Amino acid sequence: MPGIVVVGAQWGDEGKGKATDQLGDRVDYTVRYSGGNNAGHTLVVNGEKYALHLLPSGILNDSVPVIGNGVVVDLDVLFEEIDGLNARGVDTSKLIISANAHVITEYHKVMDKVTERFLGNRRIGTTGRGIGPAYSDKINRLGIRMQDLFDESILRQKVEAALEQKNHLLVKVYNRRAIDANQVIDELLAHAPRVAPMVTDVVRVLNAALDRDEVVLFEGAQAHHLDVDHGTYPYVTSSNPIAAGACTGSGVGPMRINRVIGIAKAYTTRVGEGPFPTELLNADGEKLRADGAEFGTTTGRNRRCGWFDALVVEAAATANAFTDIFLTKLDILTGWEKIPVCVAYEVNGERMDTLPMTQTDFHHAVPVYEYLDGWTEDISGCRDFADFPKNTQAYVRRLEELVGCRISGIGVGPSREQVVMLHELL
Ligand code: GDP
Ligand code: IMO
Ligand code: MG
Repeated sequence: MPGIVVVGAQWGDEGKGKATDQLGDRVDYTVRYSGGNNAGHTLVVNGEKYALHLLPSGILNDSVPVIGNGVVVDLDVLFEEIDGLNARGVDTSKLIISANAHVITEYHKVMDKVTERFLGNRRIGTTGRGIGPAYSDKINRLGIRMQDLFDESILRQKVEAALEQKNHLLVKVYNRRAIDANQVIDELLAHAPRVAPMVTDVVRVLNAALDRDEVVLFEGAQAHHLDVDHGTYPYVTSSNPIAAGACTGSGVGPMRINRVIGIAKAYTTRVGEGPFPTELLNADGEKLRADGAEFGTTTGRNRRCGWFDALVVEAAATANAFTDIFLTKLDILTGWEKIPVCVAYEVNGERMDTLPMTQTDFHHAVPVYEYLDGWTEDISGCRDFADFPKNTQAYVRRLEELVGCRISGIGVGPSREQVVMLHELL
C-alpha cells in the first residue's frame, strides 16, 4: 500500500496532523501537496505539543518530510518553524522542497489583507497569510518559484513583472504605499543560500521511492469543502486540498495512490466565512467550542461549531473516493443526552438527501436531524472498540452507514496513543 492520501472531509481542523502522525514510523515520506501556512496541524507527542503550519507532520517521526510543488512557501515561516523545532531537539535535516513550489512574498501578504478589507462584508475571512494572492499569481503566470531564487536576473524580472500591476492597484485603488521591488528581491535572495540544499526534484524522489515500494503519505491541508473546485466557493481556499490534488501537487500519477483516508471530526467546525448548515449559534455551540478547545491553531480565531453533517462528509467521501475514515474527537461528545446528526436538508420545503448542487440552495439548507442517544462515560482511555459504551458504538456505526464509508480509526484524545483502531491504515 505505498501511496496514501490523508484528506480533510469537512472545513479543516479535523485532526489531519494527528491522523498523519498515527501512521508514524511505517511511513518513508510525508508530503505536503497543497496550501501553505494557512494550515495549522497540532500534534501531541509524548506529552509535548507541536503546532505545524508548513512542515508535514512526518517531521516528527522518521520519515522524509517533503514540500511538493503544489504548496506555497513563506520562507520566513519555514525557517521560523525549522528553528523552533530544532530548538526542541527535532531533526529537520531530511526536509526536501520542490523547485517548482511557489514562494509567498511580502506583496502577497499585503494584497491578501487589503483585498479582504476592500471586500467588507463580502470578505472570505482568510488567514491573511498571502495564500490567495500567491496562487493567483501562479495561475496568472506571474509567480515566483523556489528555483527562481537561484537566478538573480530571472528573479528580478519576475518580481518586477508581478509588482507592476499590483503597485498600480495598491496606490490608485487601495490607497496604500507602493512596494519596492528591490527590497523584495533582496529579502528573497538573502534566503536563497539556506534553502538551496533543501530544493530538489521531488517528482523523481517520490516516484523512485514508490518504485521501491516504500510508503509515501500525502498529508492534506485544509479540506474537501475548502477546495477551490469542490468546496463552498467562493468561501474556500485557493488550492486543491482534495485527494486528486496530491497528484498535481507532488507529481505522482493517480495510479500510484492506493488509499485515501478521509479525516472527519465527530461534529463539525469551520473558521472564516461561508455557509455551515449545522452551525450552532447558541449555548450548545459554545459548549462544543469549550469542550473541544475549538480555537484556531493559525489565527487564534474562534472556530464556528455545529453537529456532524453526514451530507457534508458523504460528498467528500464520494468525490475523493475515501477508502477509510478516521473519526476524530469522539471524546468531546461525551456528556450529551442526545446527539443530533444531520441526515438531510430541507430546502424551500423540499427534502434533499445529498448536498445541493447550487450555492443558493446550500445557503438555504435547513438541517434535518436524527437524534442519537448520547453517553456519559469517559471514553478517552478506551483503546478497543469493544471498550466503548453501547451508545458510542451505535453513534460510530450510524455515521458509517450515513456516509457510506467504513470508519477505520477513532480519536479519543489529542495524544498519539489516544486512538481506537478498527482496521489497519497501512
Ligand atoms: P488539522 O488542521 O486537521 O491537523 O487539525 P488541528 O490540529 O487544527 O485541530 C485539531 C485539534 O484537535 C488539535 O488541537 C488536536 O490536538 C486535537 N485532536 C485531534 N484528534 C483529537 C481527538 O481525537 N480528541 C481530542 N480531544 N482532540 C483531538
Ligand atoms: P488546516 O490544514 C481551517 C480557511 C480560512 C478561510 C478560507 C480561505 O489546519 O485544516 P486562505 O487563507 O486559505 O485564503 O483562507 O479557508 N482555512 C482554513 N480553515 N483549517 C485550515 O487549515 C484552513 N486553511 C484555510 O479560515 O475561511
Ligand atoms: Mg488546523
